Amino acid sequence: MSTPQHLAVIMDGNGRWAKRRFLPRIEGHRRGIESLRTIVSQARRRGIHSLSVFAFSSENWRRPEDEVSALMRFFVAGLEREAEPLARAGVRLHVVGDKTGFSEELIGAVQRAEAATANAVAEGSFMHLNVCINYGGRWDIVQAARKLAEQGEAIDVASLESHLTMQWSGPVDLMIRTGGESRISNFILWQAAYAELYFTERLWPDFGAEDLSEALDWYGSRERRFGMTSEQISGERS
Ligand code: IPE
Ligand code: IPE
Ligand code: MG
Repeated sequence: MSTPQHLAVIMDGNGRWAKRRFLPRIEGHRRGIESLRTIVSQARRRGIHSLSVFAFSSENWRRPEDEVSALMRFFVAGLEREAEPLARAGVRLHVVGDKTGFSEELIGAVQRAEAATANAVAEGSFMHLNVCINYGGRWDIVQAARKLAEQGEAIDVASLESHLTMQWSGPVDLMIRTGGESRISNFILWQAAYAELYFTERLWPDFGAEDLSEALDWYGSRERRFGMTSEQISGERS
Protein backbone atom coordinates (compact mmCIF):
# COMPACT_ATOMS: atom_id res chain seq x y z
CA MET A 1 0.00 0.00 0.00
CA SER A 2 1.38 3.40 -0.93
CA THR A 3 2.43 6.02 1.60
CA PRO A 4 2.17 9.70 0.75
CA GLN A 5 5.51 11.38 0.14
CA HIS A 6 4.11 14.74 1.13
CA LEU A 7 1.39 14.91 3.77
CA ALA A 8 -0.29 18.25 4.56
CA VAL A 9 -2.45 18.76 7.62
CA ILE A 10 -4.91 21.53 8.46
CA MET A 11 -4.95 21.26 12.24
CA ASP A 12 -8.44 22.57 12.97
CA GLY A 13 -10.82 22.32 15.91
CA ASN A 14 -8.72 23.47 18.87
CA GLY A 15 -11.16 26.19 19.85
CA ARG A 16 -14.19 23.90 19.79
CA TRP A 17 -12.32 21.24 21.73
CA ALA A 18 -11.70 23.78 24.49
CA LYS A 19 -15.19 25.25 24.36
CA ARG A 20 -16.77 21.83 24.89
CA ARG A 21 -14.78 21.55 28.10
CA PHE A 22 -15.52 25.12 29.23
CA LEU A 23 -11.84 25.92 28.85
CA PRO A 24 -10.28 28.98 27.21
CA ARG A 25 -9.53 28.50 23.49
CA ILE A 26 -5.84 28.70 24.20
CA GLU A 27 -6.05 25.43 26.15
CA GLY A 28 -7.19 23.82 22.93
CA HIS A 29 -4.12 25.18 21.18
CA ARG A 30 -1.94 23.86 24.00
CA ARG A 31 -3.43 20.39 23.59
CA GLY A 32 -3.06 20.73 19.84
CA ILE A 33 0.70 20.86 20.28
CA GLU A 34 0.52 17.39 21.87
CA SER A 35 -1.30 16.07 18.80
CA LEU A 36 1.31 17.63 16.58
CA ARG A 37 4.08 15.91 18.51
CA THR A 38 2.34 12.55 18.05
CA ILE A 39 1.70 13.06 14.35
CA VAL A 40 5.26 14.18 13.66
CA SER A 41 6.69 11.06 15.27
CA GLN A 42 4.17 8.77 13.56
CA ALA A 43 4.81 10.36 10.17
CA ARG A 44 8.54 9.98 10.70
CA ARG A 45 8.11 6.35 11.75
CA ARG A 46 6.11 5.62 8.62
CA GLY A 47 8.77 7.03 6.34
CA ILE A 48 6.83 10.04 5.10
CA HIS A 49 9.23 12.37 3.31
CA SER A 50 7.55 15.69 4.13
CA LEU A 51 4.91 16.80 6.60
CA SER A 52 3.44 20.28 6.21
CA VAL A 53 1.21 21.61 8.96
CA PHE A 54 -0.96 24.71 9.01
CA ALA A 55 -0.26 26.45 12.30
CA PHE A 56 -1.41 30.01 11.52
CA SER A 57 -3.00 31.32 8.36
CA SER A 58 -2.54 34.76 6.86
CA GLU A 59 -6.18 35.27 7.82
CA ASN A 60 -5.76 34.24 11.46
CA TRP A 61 -4.52 37.77 12.33
CA ARG A 62 -8.22 38.63 12.37
CA ARG A 63 -8.66 36.73 15.63
CA PRO A 64 -8.83 38.46 19.01
CA GLU A 65 -5.51 39.98 19.92
CA ASP A 66 -5.05 37.90 23.06
CA GLU A 67 -5.47 34.66 21.09
CA VAL A 68 -3.03 35.82 18.41
CA SER A 69 -0.42 36.84 20.96
CA ALA A 70 -0.80 33.59 22.89
CA LEU A 71 -0.31 31.63 19.66
CA MET A 72 2.81 33.66 18.84
CA ARG A 73 4.19 32.90 22.32
CA PHE A 74 3.47 29.20 21.74
CA PHE A 75 5.35 29.30 18.46
CA VAL A 76 8.43 30.90 20.03
CA ALA A 77 8.42 28.54 23.02
CA GLY A 78 7.63 25.50 20.87
CA LEU A 79 10.47 26.21 18.46
CA GLU A 80 12.92 26.69 21.32
CA ARG A 81 11.79 23.54 23.11
CA GLU A 82 11.33 21.15 20.20
CA ALA A 83 14.33 21.91 17.97
CA GLU A 84 16.78 19.59 19.73
CA PRO A 85 14.40 16.61 20.08
CA LEU A 86 13.38 17.02 16.44
CA ALA A 87 17.00 17.07 15.33
CA ARG A 88 17.69 13.89 17.31
CA ALA A 89 14.69 12.24 15.66
CA GLY A 90 15.93 13.13 12.17
CA VAL A 91 13.43 15.90 11.46
CA ARG A 92 14.44 19.00 9.51
CA LEU A 93 12.27 21.91 10.50
CA HIS A 94 11.29 24.75 8.19
CA VAL A 95 8.99 27.61 9.07
CA VAL A 96 7.18 28.62 5.91
CA GLY A 97 5.14 31.77 5.41
CA ASP A 98 5.38 35.53 5.08
CA LYS A 99 7.99 36.30 7.71
CA THR A 100 7.61 40.06 7.25
CA GLY A 101 4.70 39.68 9.66
CA PHE A 102 6.84 38.04 12.37
CA SER A 103 8.14 39.69 15.53
CA GLU A 104 11.92 39.93 16.07
CA GLU A 105 11.57 37.30 18.77
CA LEU A 106 9.84 34.85 16.45
CA ILE A 107 12.36 35.48 13.67
CA GLY A 108 15.19 34.68 16.10
CA ALA A 109 13.49 31.50 17.31
CA VAL A 110 12.86 30.37 13.72
CA GLN A 111 16.47 30.95 12.73
CA ARG A 112 17.81 29.03 15.71
CA ALA A 113 15.39 26.11 15.29
CA GLU A 114 16.01 25.84 11.55
CA ALA A 115 19.77 25.93 12.08
CA ALA A 116 19.60 23.31 14.84
CA THR A 117 17.76 20.85 12.60
CA ALA A 118 19.32 21.75 9.23
CA ASN A 119 21.46 18.61 9.02
CA ALA A 120 19.30 16.30 11.09
CA VAL A 121 19.59 12.64 10.16
CA ALA A 122 18.69 9.62 12.27
CA GLU A 123 19.10 6.01 11.27
CA GLY A 124 20.21 7.15 7.85
CA SER A 125 17.14 9.16 6.92
CA PHE A 126 15.21 12.30 7.74
CA MET A 127 11.82 13.97 7.33
CA HIS A 128 11.05 17.56 6.39
CA LEU A 129 8.59 19.28 8.72
CA ASN A 130 7.16 22.47 7.26
CA VAL A 131 5.40 24.52 9.90
CA CYS A 132 3.29 27.07 8.05
CA ILE A 133 2.92 30.33 9.96
CA ASN A 134 1.42 33.45 8.37
CA TYR A 135 1.07 31.24 5.33
CA GLY A 136 -1.50 31.49 2.58
CA GLY A 137 -1.67 29.49 -0.62
CA ARG A 138 -2.46 32.66 -2.57
CA TRP A 139 0.52 34.46 -1.03
CA ASP A 140 2.76 31.54 -2.03
CA ILE A 141 1.72 31.86 -5.68
CA VAL A 142 2.03 35.65 -5.63
CA GLN A 143 5.53 35.61 -4.13
CA ALA A 144 6.62 33.14 -6.82
CA ALA A 145 5.13 35.29 -9.59
CA ARG A 146 6.76 38.38 -8.13
CA LYS A 147 10.19 36.73 -8.17
CA LEU A 148 9.73 35.76 -11.81
CA ALA A 149 8.64 39.28 -12.71
CA GLU A 150 11.62 40.81 -10.88
CA GLN A 151 13.99 38.52 -12.73
CA GLY A 152 12.24 39.20 -16.05
CA GLU A 153 11.59 35.48 -16.47
CA ALA A 154 8.75 34.03 -18.54
CA ILE A 155 5.79 32.85 -16.52
CA ASP A 156 4.78 29.28 -17.22
CA VAL A 157 3.80 26.31 -15.07
CA ALA A 158 7.34 25.04 -14.62
CA SER A 159 8.95 28.41 -13.88
CA LEU A 160 6.25 29.46 -11.44
CA GLU A 161 6.34 26.11 -9.70
CA SER A 162 10.09 26.36 -9.25
CA HIS A 163 9.67 29.56 -7.22
CA LEU A 164 7.02 28.31 -4.81
CA THR A 165 7.88 27.69 -1.18
CA MET A 166 8.62 24.18 0.14
CA GLN A 167 10.59 23.22 -2.96
CA TRP A 168 12.18 20.37 -1.04
CA SER A 169 8.77 18.73 -0.49
CA GLY A 170 7.23 18.44 -3.95
CA PRO A 171 3.50 18.10 -4.62
CA VAL A 172 1.11 17.32 -1.77
CA ASP A 173 -0.18 13.75 -2.01
CA LEU A 174 -2.61 13.74 0.89
CA MET A 175 -4.22 16.68 2.68
CA ILE A 176 -5.96 15.98 5.97
CA ARG A 177 -8.28 18.47 7.64
CA THR A 178 -9.57 17.82 11.13
CA GLY A 179 -12.46 19.63 12.80
CA GLY A 180 -15.27 18.76 10.42
CA GLU A 181 -14.97 21.56 7.86
CA SER A 182 -14.63 20.62 4.20
CA ARG A 183 -12.57 23.52 2.97
CA ILE A 184 -8.95 24.39 2.32
CA SER A 185 -8.99 27.86 3.95
CA ASN A 186 -6.15 29.13 1.76
CA PHE A 187 -3.66 26.45 2.80
CA ILE A 188 -1.38 24.94 0.15
CA LEU A 189 -3.13 25.47 -3.19
CA TRP A 190 -0.88 25.01 -6.18
CA GLN A 191 1.15 22.14 -4.74
CA ALA A 192 -2.11 20.43 -3.68
CA ALA A 193 -3.62 20.51 -7.17
CA TYR A 194 -3.74 16.70 -7.23
CA ALA A 195 -3.81 15.99 -3.51
CA GLU A 196 -6.27 13.47 -2.11
CA LEU A 197 -8.42 15.40 0.36
CA TYR A 198 -9.38 13.76 3.65
CA PHE A 199 -11.82 15.46 5.98
CA THR A 200 -12.54 14.15 9.44
CA GLU A 201 -14.87 15.29 12.22
CA ARG A 202 -12.19 14.56 14.81
CA LEU A 203 -11.03 17.76 16.51
CA TRP A 204 -7.28 18.33 16.27
CA PRO A 205 -6.51 17.85 20.01
CA ASP A 206 -8.22 14.43 19.79
CA PHE A 207 -6.45 13.39 16.58
CA GLY A 208 -3.99 10.61 17.34
CA ALA A 209 -1.92 7.80 15.86
CA GLU A 210 -4.97 5.66 15.05
CA ASP A 211 -6.68 8.51 13.25
CA LEU A 212 -3.57 9.04 11.17
CA SER A 213 -3.48 5.32 10.36
CA GLU A 214 -7.09 5.50 9.18
CA ALA A 215 -6.32 8.46 6.94
CA LEU A 216 -3.26 6.72 5.50
CA ASP A 217 -5.26 3.53 4.88
CA TRP A 218 -7.87 5.57 3.07
CA TYR A 219 -5.13 7.23 1.01
CA GLY A 220 -3.72 3.82 0.16
CA SER A 221 -7.08 2.76 -1.25
CA ARG A 222 -7.36 5.71 -3.64
CA GLU A 223 -6.64 5.35 -7.32
CA ARG A 224 -4.70 8.43 -8.38
CA ARG A 225 -5.42 8.90 -12.04
CA PHE A 226 -3.89 12.32 -12.84
CA GLY A 227 -6.28 12.74 -15.74
CA MET A 228 -5.83 9.24 -17.14
CA THR A 229 -8.34 6.41 -17.21
CA SER A 230 -8.55 3.65 -14.67
CA GLU A 231 -7.56 1.13 -17.37
CA GLN A 232 -4.43 3.08 -18.15
CA ILE A 233 -3.47 3.11 -14.50
CA SER A 234 -4.00 -0.61 -13.97
CA GLY A 235 -2.21 -1.32 -17.26
CA GLU A 236 0.79 0.63 -16.03
CA ARG A 237 0.89 -1.40 -12.87
CA SER A 238 0.67 -4.81 -14.45
C1 IPE B 1 -7.05 25.62 14.56
O1 IPE B 1 -8.04 25.54 15.51
C2 IPE B 1 -5.83 26.33 15.07
C3 IPE B 1 -5.59 27.65 14.49
C4 IPE B 1 -6.29 28.21 13.55
C5 IPE B 1 -4.47 28.39 15.04
P1 IPE B 1 -9.15 26.66 15.67
O2 IPE B 1 -8.64 27.67 16.66
O3 IPE B 1 -9.51 27.22 14.35
O4 IPE B 1 -10.34 25.85 16.29
P2 IPE B 1 -11.89 26.04 15.98
O5 IPE B 1 -12.07 25.92 14.50
O6 IPE B 1 -12.26 27.40 16.47
O7 IPE B 1 -12.54 24.94 16.73
C1 IPE C 1 -7.32 27.14 9.14
O1 IPE C 1 -8.23 27.06 10.16
C2 IPE C 1 -6.01 27.63 9.65
C3 IPE C 1 -5.28 26.74 10.53
C4 IPE C 1 -5.62 25.52 10.87
C5 IPE C 1 -4.05 27.27 11.05
P1 IPE C 1 -9.30 28.22 10.46
O2 IPE C 1 -10.09 27.75 11.62
O3 IPE C 1 -8.63 29.54 10.60
O4 IPE C 1 -10.17 28.22 9.12
P2 IPE C 1 -11.60 28.84 8.84
O5 IPE C 1 -11.55 30.27 9.22
O6 IPE C 1 -12.59 28.09 9.67
O7 IPE C 1 -11.83 28.60 7.38
MG1 MG D 1 -10.95 26.69 13.01
